Amino acid sequence: MNDPFDPKTAPDEDTPFDVSLRPPDFDDFHGQEKVKDRLILMVEAARQRGDVLEHVLLSGPPGLGKTTLANIIASATGTTLHTTSGPQIEKAGDLAGILTNLQKGDLLFIDEIHRLHPAIEEYLYPAMEDYRLDIIIDSGPSARSIQLNLPKFTLVAATTRAGKLTAPLRSRFGLINRLDYYTAEELAHIIRRTAQLIDVPITEEGSMEVSRRSRGTPRIANNLLRWVRDYAQVRAQGKISGSVAIDALGMIDIDSDGLDEMDKRLLEALIYKFQGGPCGLKTLATAL
Ligand SMILES: Nc1ncnc2c1ncn2[C@@H]1O[C@H](COP(=O)(O)OP(=O)(O)OP(=O)(O)O)[C@@H](O)[C@H]1O
Ligand SMILES: [Mg+2]
Repeated sequence: MNDPFDPKTAPDEDTPFDVSLRPPDFDDFHGQEKVKDRLILMVEAARQRGDVLEHVLLSGPPGLGKTTLANIIASATGTTLHTTSGPQIEKAGDLAGILTNLQKGDLLFIDEIHRLHPAIEEYLYPAMEDYRLDIIIDSGPSARSIQLNLPKFTLVAATTRAGKLTAPLRSRFGLINRLDYYTAEELAHIIRRTAQLIDVPITEEGSMEVSRRSRGTPRIANNLLRWVRDYAQVRAQGKISGSVAIDALGMIDIDSDGLDEMDKRLLEALIYKFQGGPCGLKTLATAL
């Protein structure tokens, strides 16, 4: 049993409920086979050489598994994961603090790296390439630059906007991995896994109905499944069949393609009001 008063095992209040739904290792992570194969190979190669893993960039739309993969890489390499994000690093000093606290082999995960301030990005270049940090202390006439040696670490960076990364930053990653939307079959598999974890029986059709409406995104699939679980609990003896899933998702106005009310109004405006477009985003926003 976890002792709720022991800071090491007590549930962390900041931890969202869905952490337990995150696949803990590559075997449990379904889909993105190409990216997964490459990462497994990289981890294995580094392990054989007794070396530190190359820097990894994960890009792709929200909710496809970037954070999840960063966690899996850390556990597969048996290293400590330090997590931060682009907007959180406000000053060069913040980055210096984070980097100098790393131990050899540690994994630094920077989420939303495209939102890193350009001046701070400059500091990251020598850190990534030569494990060196050049910082300037004091200002004016007494300003001087000092060099700090860093332990060899791995940067795992995630971005939803790969196009916004500068070329110098992009070129410093050993491997760039683009995650793509999941197929309906892959999502159905993930949904059945989640259903098992949250302990709700679901039929094959039930999982396909939810998966078809999830827009290729595991996060949406898990969210919809939680709603369908609630619905089934109150209206259908706790079991999710195809028809239960359709009724449950109909109740929150999600249609058979996963579009909600607002999506449909956007499309209708484009088709009928603007004769199929083109139409500027501002005009579209005003029309709705
Ligand atoms: N391949 C997968 N198998 C099972 N569950 C997955 C998979 N990929 C993602 N998930 C689930 O989807 C949720 C979202 O994944 P994650 O947080 O890793 O996305 P992300 O790409 O980091 O999104 P964001 O860009 O918004 O940070 C997680 O809770 C995880 O449980
Ligand atoms: Mg994330």
